[in-house]
Amino acid sequence: MKNLLKEMTIEEKLGQLIQIPPFFYIKDLKDELYGPAVELGLSKEQIFMTGSVLGIGSPEEMIEVQKTYLENNRHKIPLVFMADIIHGYETIFPIPLALAGSFNKDLVKKVAEISAKEAQTSGIHVTYSPMGDISREPRWGRIMESFGEDPHLNYILNYQMVKGYQGSSIKDEGSLAASFKHFAAYGLSEAGRDYNTVDLSEYSFKQYFAQGYLGAIDAGAKMAMTSFNTFEGIPATMNEKLIQKILKKDFGFEGLIISDYNGVRETITHGISENDKEAALNSFKAGLDIEMVSATYMKELKEEFESGRLPIELLDERVLKVLKFKEELGLFDNPYKGASRIKHDQIVLSSKNLEFALKAANESIVLLQNNNNILPLSKEQKIFLAGPNANETDLNGAWSWHGSRTNNETLYNILNNNDLLTSVEKCDVIVYFGGEKSNESGEAKSKTNINFNESQLNEIIELKKYNKPIILINSSGRPIILTNVIKHTDSILQTWFLGTKSAEAIYQTLYGINNPSAKLPVTFPQKIGQIPIYYNHLPTGRPKGSSYNEYVSYYIDSSNEPLFNFGFGLSYSNFKYQSLSISKDIIKGDEEVILTVNVKNESNRAGYEIVQLYIYDPFAKISRPVKELKDFRKVWFEENEEKKISFKINKEMFKYYDQNLNYRVDDGQIILYVGTSSNKTLEQKIIFVGGDK
Ligand code: BGC
Repeated sequence: MKNLLKEMTIEEKLGQLIQIPPFFYIKDLKDELYGPAVELGLSKEQIFMTGSVLGIGSPEEMIEVQKTYLENNRHKIPLVFMADIIHGYETIFPIPLALAGSFNKDLVKKVAEISAKEAQTSGIHVTYSPMGDISREPRWGRIMESFGEDPHLNYILNYQMVKGYQGSSIKDEGSLAASFKHFAAYGLSEAGRDYNTVDLSEYSFKQYFAQGYLGAIDAGAKMAMTSFNTFEGIPATMNEKLIQKILKKDFGFEGLIISDYNGVRETITHGISENDKEAALNSFKAGLDIEMVSATYMKELKEEFESGRLPIELLDERVLKVLKFKEELGLFDNPYKGASRIKHDQIVLSSKNLEFALKAANESIVLLQNNNNILPLSKEQKIFLAGPNANETDLNGAWSWHGSRTNNETLYNILNNNDLLTSVEKCDVIVYFGGEKSNESGEAKSKTNINFNESQLNEIIELKKYNKPIILINSSGRPIILTNVIKHTDSILQTWFLGTKSAEAIYQTLYGINNPSAKLPVTFPQKIGQIPIYYNHLPTGRPKGSSYNEYVSYYIDSSNEPLFNFGFGLSYSNFKYQSLSISKDIIKGDEEVILTVNVKNESNRAGYEIVQLYIYDPFAKISRPVKELKDFRKVWFEENEEKKISFKINKEMFKYYDQNLNYRVDDGQIILYVGTSSNKTLEQKIIFVGGDK
């Protein structure tokens, strides 16, 4: 690689740090340019010096682009192809927010594995996933791409996703390199408006909001993408502290760092870089390796390196990283790695992959309400089906652009084919399939009103006159405020967007072929004005119920409580928790203590329960959250089965960042909670000895 580097001109080196869409290489440029690409302004020679490609549609397109490129590139350095494979390639799995609710590590890993295998058949080498942005913002459309509000769950699932994509080596055919995103704290966009300002303390960032990224880093993610937002007033793209100090030094990340779409030039509109030259200089100096769909590095930095104003060693170091990455991917040996129509047709949408998509969809459905155990329905019970999603095939959710709705069934067709539909007069139950449409969440899909849709609510109220139980199936890419509708329904299934097998999973859940087991990975507010509302908040000095009369932390027009808590989700089984006990009351230094709980399935129906462990540290150097998830188990229970579930407790669970950013653990009491959701737990106290002074 070093020899190759010696033969490259400065312009060729800079080209390796530029990423552009595929049509530049194979189409007549005049017809194809749009948006920010109009201003790219690269010559044909320069296009054939660029290093990577954003997005590719098929094996044929990949092969054509790579071939044309190699014919025109002086050194025959292969392009690397990157794309957004977020929750599946053509077999679409539930959106990440839904998958998070499965609390199933192996399942999430396998979703990534299948996605990688399918995507690689189109010659894709890198995915812009997982998204580690923790979010407490249901107004933000991209919350659907996140694993929700909890740091621990985010750490675990980002870790699993990277392991699934990358396999044992990114050289192997069928694995993808993972580029986690968006560094940093993009999930905190103010007021839930996309691309908006983010401002938070470094301690809070490290303690909570960085945990998703840390999961990806610890799993060995090869790349990272910076975010659009500012961090401490400086866009992440050119934020030296964020990239050099926090990401590289503190978090030990050694992979490639790419901007988000046109992020380098957006430092101008952010009001920091005065022009393209400054944008390039600022971003390059901050440590950003690759520029996505803008070419300021190539156009503006050449002179800087030629004149020696910027040391050439700095450029060589970055370019060498890119070349080594291509080598690690095996692209110098086989530039077309993976791309094959034959393999594509064998692997993509295979019956095995679809079967797994159904399992993932089933494990992502949350049962929010089930009055009088209306669900599950028996085979004899007939449905009257209503609502705007009843006949909808697009239940894939955003960021699934390779997945075609033509692969999907509608709920109407599935129920109809099983002879389960009838008129409203004759039916046993009314199923109303409403909520959002697939395109109402995702990038740039922020909302100010996340109440359950009013015209749908009116339709439901209208249907009440038939005096039949009403089951609401709510699809959404975000928490929806269900306060207005819950009193008019008997059962509610939260079905998010479940991908290719959405309708089938819903059918299986209605009829008890699937026993719903998912839990909410994010709080569902009771009122919009409560946002941000999340379970792991700090205690205030004047909590509700304290002795200040009305001068306490509350609302005069609402309770503080959400409608549904983090970790909540019902089942057709009935789980009872008792006898939480601990092997020792005191835990010293590096010791481990075992916490055990008895869980019994008090029903004649087998099913999964997600047993959750939370902690609270009532006295520390800084105020600690009233509850924090630290571990969980997803356990299968046969009918009426009772099991002892154990958790290992150790000091790692008690550590936190103090105000001076020291990661520490204190002596003293910790309260341990175990239960079926964040607000329904048993508790046990323990004393820790051997903490930092
Ligand atoms: C999004 C990224 C995505 C990129 C490339 C941007 O608009 O913010 O998440 O990876 O586009 O498609």
